[in-house]
Amino acid sequence: MTDPKWWKESVIYQIYPKSFCDSNGDGIGDIPGIISKLDYLKELGVDGIWVCPMYPSPGYDNGYDISDYEDIDPIFGTMEDFDRLISEVHARNMKLIIDLVLNHTSSAHPWFQESRASLESGKRNYYIWRKGNPDGSPPNNWGALFGGSAWTLEEKGGEYYLNLFSAPQPDLNWRNPALRQELYAIIRRWLERGVDGFRMDVISLIAKPEDFEDGPTGRSGFHDPRARAAANPQVHEYIREMRREAFEGHNIVTVGEASATSLEEAKIFSNPDGSELNMVFQFEHMDLDGGETFKWTDQTIPIPALKQVMTKWQLGLHNQGWNGLFWNNHDQPRMVSRLGDEGELRERSAKMLATCLHLLQGTPFVYQGEELGMTSMDFTDISQLRDSESINAYNRYVSSGEISHADMMRYISMKSRDSGRTPMQWNDSAYGGFTTGTPWMPVNPNYVSINAAEQENRQNSVFSFYKELIALRKKHKVIVYGGYEPYCIEHPEVFSYFRKSEAETLLVCCNFSSKAVLFPVPEEFGNAVQILGNVEDSHYLSEGILASFEAVILKRNGG
Ligand code: GLC
Ligand code: CA
Repeated sequence: MTDPKWWKESVIYQIYPKSFCDSNGDGIGDIPGIISKLDYLKELGVDGIWVCPMYPSPGYDNGYDISDYEDIDPIFGTMEDFDRLISEVHARNMKLIIDLVLNHTSSAHPWFQESRASLESGKRNYYIWRKGNPDGSPPNNWGALFGGSAWTLEEKGGEYYLNLFSAPQPDLNWRNPALRQELYAIIRRWLERGVDGFRMDVISLIAKPEDFEDGPTGRSGFHDPRARAAANPQVHEYIREMRREAFEGHNIVTVGEASATSLEEAKIFSNPDGSELNMVFQFEHMDLDGGETFKWTDQTIPIPALKQVMTKWQLGLHNQGWNGLFWNNHDQPRMVSRLGDEGELRERSAKMLATCLHLLQGTPFVYQGEELGMTSMDFTDISQLRDSESINAYNRYVSSGEISHADMMRYISMKSRDSGRTPMQWNDSAYGGFTTGTPWMPVNPNYVSINAAEQENRQNSVFSFYKELIALRKKHKVIVYGGYEPYCIEHPEVFSYFRKSEAETLLVCCNFSSKAVLFPVPEEFGNAVQILGNVEDSHYLSEGILASFEAVILKRNGG
């Protein structure tokens, strides 16, 4: 049995604060809004919350461009509000995890202002500066994730700075020990305030390879440098140092966003010896519906590939690391729209997806609204979008004539981050009860039928199902600590696996198809008991039939 830890036994709820709950009618979610919903989260049964960045920020990337690591942006409230959030979360016996963005700051951060001011600035080396080529072009062909070159020319001094995401998000220079010490001190001060852990934004990318060599380019004309940054061994030196200098001695959880990370690297990041981080988010399963034009296609995730990828990470990290499990987050469209059904079988498919994820090994994360089966948004006009990633992509592909307006809006509805960021749907009053003012981005009009108030006390709702799943995890330790073994891995539509410990064996079968399928019942499960399912009268045990989007969890008789 793997080493018991509170964060392995937990389910964490992710809050995107801007879209969660607005307490003062300015159309933007805030800390008092979060506090007002803590009882709702307690009712759901989650053990902790991770809140996306609430630091002061110009908001180019909705808070992932920080201009002050040690304060709260007034749009969200005050530091007093934050302290109250900590104590209200703790009073409910839950944990509070905050987001730390240490790969880059905002270009409005005073460090960057000082760094860009002159070549001799004391903070020059807090960021990564290089001379351009003799013809004036950028130092290499690396591209920024949100479009364009990864290098931005600063007129003053005539050098380029590196920005892996966008020009308003300059990358910090982790080679500089003084910078690293500043960051560790910031972490220590948040720990003193009482936070219980950190979700570490694109932490895999902090150590840039020294050579800054060109790489192969795709259709964008740029090279995507993330994989090489993520494979630079120096990242592990920095994280180990950070653990020693900042995390040591605290019973916290550290979750690394392992962007572009291989399984081998992830094993080092989440090594059970505790030398680096506790767990990783990997993205291989999220990238299965991408293509030549990045995510801007109508390709869907192929189920066989999804099964292969998930199985690889389940087997690969068993006893050798730890998975953070997710289908949704603020960077993804809604999974129920992506792999489930938006129509009549929406609730059933949402429950199936939940079952499939929560029964895997790892710590499950529930993204706000997922527990209601909230769907992606049908965007028809660029004025409805807020995310610079979608807006930049729209401008790039539509103005070049590569993709038509109609197709691009369809891709954006299917794949964009905006689709996952529409405000939380609390009830059927105006704007889903999210705000009494005008919401900062459109609310999905389906709030009239899909909302928390309608689901909280309905026994067969998606919300009630999540409650059951979360409770199940507390009852059956095999879900947390047991081994994973795929079952019928070659089946094209059913994702099925065993979870095994000495005491218990479970079988999980999830039908990802909108049609009923025949699926063999393993012999030793002939007289098994069903411990949870999403279809009222299941024909699986009796006839080996799984209904459309059916999920069942069976427990083998006699352990
Ligand atoms: C992470 C965040 C994303 C952000 C990016 C740059 O991927 O989750 O929202 O845009 O890092 O900070
Ligand atoms: Ca507000």
